This record gives sequence, C-alpha cells and structure tokens, in this order.
Amino acid sequence: MKTVLLTGAAGSIGSGLRRELKGVYDELRLADIKAINDVGPGESFHRLDIADAGTLGAAMKGVDGVIHMAGQSVEADWETVHRQNIVGLYNLYEAARIAGVKRIVYPSSNHAVGFYPRSRRVGAVTVFRPDGRYGISKAFGELVAALYADKFGIGSLCIRIGNANDKPIDKRRLSIWVSWRDLAQLVRIGLEHPAIHFEIVYGVSDNERSWFDNATAYQLGYRPQDRAEDYAADVLAKELPEDMTKVGPRVIGGSFADDDYAGDPNRFEKFRY
Ligand SMILES: NC(=O)c1ccc[n+]([C@@H]2O[C@H](COP(=O)([O-])OP(=O)(O)OC[C@H]3O[C@@H](n4cnc5c(N)ncnc54)[C@H](O)[C@@H]3O)[C@@H](O)[C@H]2O)c1
Repeated sequence: MKTVLLTGAAGSIGSGLRRELKGVYDELRLADIKAINDVGPGESFHRLDIADAGTLGAAMKGVDGVIHMAGQSVEADWETVHRQNIVGLYNLYEAARIAGVKRIVYPSSNHAVGFYPRSRRVGAVTVFRPDGRYGISKAFGELVAALYADKFGIGSLCIRIGNANDKPIDKRRLSIWVSWRDLAQLVRIGLEHPAIHFEIVYGVSDNERSWFDNATAYQLGYRPQDRAEDYAADVLAKELPEDMTKVGPRVIGGSFADDDYAGDPNRFEKFRY
C-alpha cells in the first residue's frame, strides 16, 4: 500500500495515527476541514469538507486506502450528526468507489452497542443497541461499509473504538481503552490484511476488564501491546462512587446512555437478544 488518505487528520485520533504511521506508507495524505500547518516529509494536505461531496474527489485520486477519522466524534444535535456522520460518511464511500479505492478503515464506536449491560460480553455479530444519535450514526456507517463491500468490493474494517488516549482516565475506560500503538496496529490490519471484506472488531487494548469478545481481531492477527490494568490502581484510587440508580454506570455507553434518558432505569435489561 503506497498512498493512504487520513481524513480527520487534525483531530485527536488523526494526530495519534500521524505519529504512529510516520514513514509506514509512501504518502500519508492528510485531510481535514481545519488547516494543518505542520505537514511533514511523506505527508501532504487536502482541505475538504466531507459533507460537501464535490471537495472529496481530488483527495481520493491515486489513493490505495482510506482511514476515515473525519466527522462528529461525540453526541450532538441531529442536524450536526446527520451532516457529518450520515451525509459525510456516505459521500466518503461514494467518492472512494468512484476513485477505485479498495480499502477503508471506518471508526465505529462502542456507542453503537452502548445499551448492552456491562455484565454481558458483546461480540462483533450482535444487534446494534445505540445509546444516542451519535451511536445511530456509527451503526449507519457499519451498514454502509457492509453494502460497499458486498456490492462494490471495497473492503472495510469497522473498528468499534472504545476510547483512544495516552492512558485510561477512569473506571469505564479501564474496560474500553485503546493505546495509540494498538489502534495503529488495528488500522494497519484494516489497510493491509489480504482477507478484509467487511469486518467488525473492537478497538480496545489487552484489557482484563473488557466487555467485548474481540475474537475477530485476534483471528486477523491483532496482538495488543498495552493493558489498561497497568493503570488500574491509579485510576481506581481517584474514582468517585458511581450513582447506580442511573443507567449509565451499568451499560457500556456510560454517560451517553444517561443523556435525555426517560423512565425506568432498568428497561435495558428487558432486551431479548
Ligand atoms: N476518540 C475516541 O476514543 C473515539 C472512540 C470511538 C470512535 N471514535 C471515532 O473516531 C473518529 C475520530 O475521532 P476523534 O476523537 O479523533 O475526533 P476529533 O473530533 O478529535 O477529530 C475529528 C476531526 O474531523 C474533522 N472534521 C469534522 N468535520 C469534518 C468535515 N465535515 N470534513 C472534514 N473534516 C471534518 C475535525 O476538524 C477533526 O479534526 C470519529 O469518527 C469518532 O466518532 C473516536
């Protein structure tokens, strides 16, 4: 793989991946709606708006694979989520199809399955249980990835990212944290593994408290280097008691599930699947 387009390159994960992927590909083509002023050797920059389809074609030219990190990364009003993660996501896949791109790494989220209880172990083949508008948009992206794999032969690795950061910052993150190098390893599997068609993995490090069955990632060769448990003593020493009358502390999505929550806080346990 020679030329890789990284959308959302100015963002948190985009910046982490720029560091981790330095020198791996001949050209790392950065793209964002925001300017990037520190373009380094082996990098180039395209300013674009994924919600404006006309701005994507030039950036896609000659690209072998796309890491698509641009978009709305937390809960927001529907207009924003729709523009960024529904319209923008669809534009991205369409532009990739037109340009003949064969691989896309799509950052899905734990929030696509955020209403599963923490007592369950959730695998890749599961019914979506989004915990908000953002979670719905992440599930939508997985469906687009499935369609473009089956209909057009564009291979996608959907990574349901937990939380990417230098280290886990609270008790919930001890279960869902992913380090930069582990996330970069998954991204490289998504771009380079010959058998990718439409795959779903969890973007988590080797976490003892994980809520996910990440067997597909391991089958694809994922060997995480980092463990959230190494930070557990520090994290738990600072943790405040959780309010267990709320739904958030009992489901994967945490506070996202609490946003606008109405009625019986035990309702999520009645789900049949
Ligand atoms: N950070 C995490 O732990 C995490 C967890 C789960 C999923 N994700 C997903 O990973 C992706 C990246 O997350 P992040 O934390 O780096 O987000 P971020 O908000 O830090 O970065 C997003 C980037 O996208 C750019 N962007 C926004 N709208 C755009 C548009 N219309 N056109 C072009 N660029 C646009 C922003 O300028 C920003 O640089 C998101 O899709 C997010 O949903 C992240």
